[in-house]
Parts: sequence; structure tokens; C-alpha cells
Amino acid sequence: MKPVLISPTIDLIDSWIEFIQECDEKNISGFWDYPDRSENWKDYVKLEATRRTINRESLVSSSTFWLVNDGEILAATSIRHRLNEKLKKFGGHIGYYVKPSQWKNGYGTKILELALLEARNLGIRKTLITCSDDNIASAKIIEKNGGVLEKKEIYNGKLYRYYWIGLSS
Ligand SMILES: CC(C)(COP(=O)(O)OP(=O)(O)OC[C@H]1O[C@@H](n2cnc3c(N)ncnc32)[C@H](O)[C@@H]1OP(=O)(O)O)[C@@H](O)C(=O)NCCC(=O)NCCS
Repeated sequence: MKPVLISPTIDLIDSWIEFIQECDEKNISGFWDYPDRSENWKDYVKLEATRRTINRESLVSSSTFWLVNDGEILAATSIRHRLNEKLKKFGGHIGYYVKPSQWKNGYGTKILELALLEARNLGIRKTLITCSDDNIASAKIIEKNGGVLEKKEIYNGKLYRYYWIGLSS
């Protein structure tokens, strides 16, 4: 089967919990770790699925998608609909995470490829993607998807790479 990108659904909640647990074990925190994250998974999924309509003070609207194959969530992505000052420094338009037990299977490259199509559908014409300078895998993923390195800059004491990918209409 081919992995597909879908919006969060309660049907895959067990797989999502497994995904988060694997990330927790590796001390990886992601876009799902916002302070008011509900421990009620039904509400959580509803929130993720409808987050595009939510505009909180410090957050811009965003869409979450899961890369799924045969009922297993392999990777997750958050697409921010616009940049605010913080995202310009850290995070950019698109963030992605692969389930640790599925690393090095090409899913990081795949989810960014599919996320870029979604970003284009959202009307984004130029995407900023950032990664820490020592995240070789992420830099490779961005470059394989056409990322052009604009600069390297220190944010919060850490060196980051800033890539742009143009999306044709
Ligand atoms: C970074 C991350 C997304 C990579 O996902 P992945 O599914 O393993 O990536 P892919 O399998 O598509 O691999 C992409 C490339 O990186 C290489 N790679 C993967 N892991 C690597 C590692 N630990 N060290 C060096 N290279 C690595 C792969 O070999 C591949 O290289 P190739 O194109 O030359 O064959 C994943 O490790 C992850 O989710 N990390 C935590 C969150 C994170 O860092 N997200 C990115 C935020 S910017």
C-alpha cells in the first residue's frame, strides 16, 4: 500500500497515542505539545482536525495532517497558514515528525513532498522551512524537496538553517 496524507481522525487514535509515546521516549516534543492539549483524545483530534479555523493569540491558523499506511500513522506534519515573527525565526511554514520506529524509511521525504502540495492548496506560494544546522536528515529532506538555503542564523543559542521552497500555482 502507498502512504497517504489525511486529516486527523478518531479512528486512528490508538496509532496516534503510540506515535506520541515513541516521541516522548526519545524526548521529542512537537506541535501536539501545546499547553492546553487535552488528555481527552476525542477532543484533541477534533481540535487538530479543525485547527485551521482557530486563531489564538500566539498561534497562527494551521492544519495538521498524518501520513498513514495500513492504519498506522507513520509521520505527522503541521502547516502554518502564515508566518508570524516567531515562525520567521523558528519553525517556518511546515514542521514534520516521523514516528521513531519508522525513521530512515523515506517517510520524512514523503511527508514534506505531500505537505508542500497541501500548502499550495492553502494558497501559500513560498514556504519557509527551518531546521537546526546539525539536523542532517531534515536538511536532506528539505533539499530533496527543492529547498534553497537562504541563510544560517542563531536562534536561542542554536544555529538554524532557513530554506525557501517556491510553490507554483
Ligand atoms: C528528521 C526526520 C524527520 C527524518 O525522517 P526520516 O523518515 O528518517 O527521513 P528519510 O528516511 O526521508 O531520510 C532523509 C535522508 O536523511 C538521511 N538520514 C535519516 N536519518 C539520518 C540520521 N540520523 N543521520 C544522518 N542522515 C540521516 C537518510 O538516509 C536520507 O538520506 P538520503 O536521501 O541520502 O538517502 C526524523 O528523524 C524526525 O522526525 N526527527 C525528529 C523531528 C525533526 O527533527 N523534525 C524535523 C524538524 S525541522
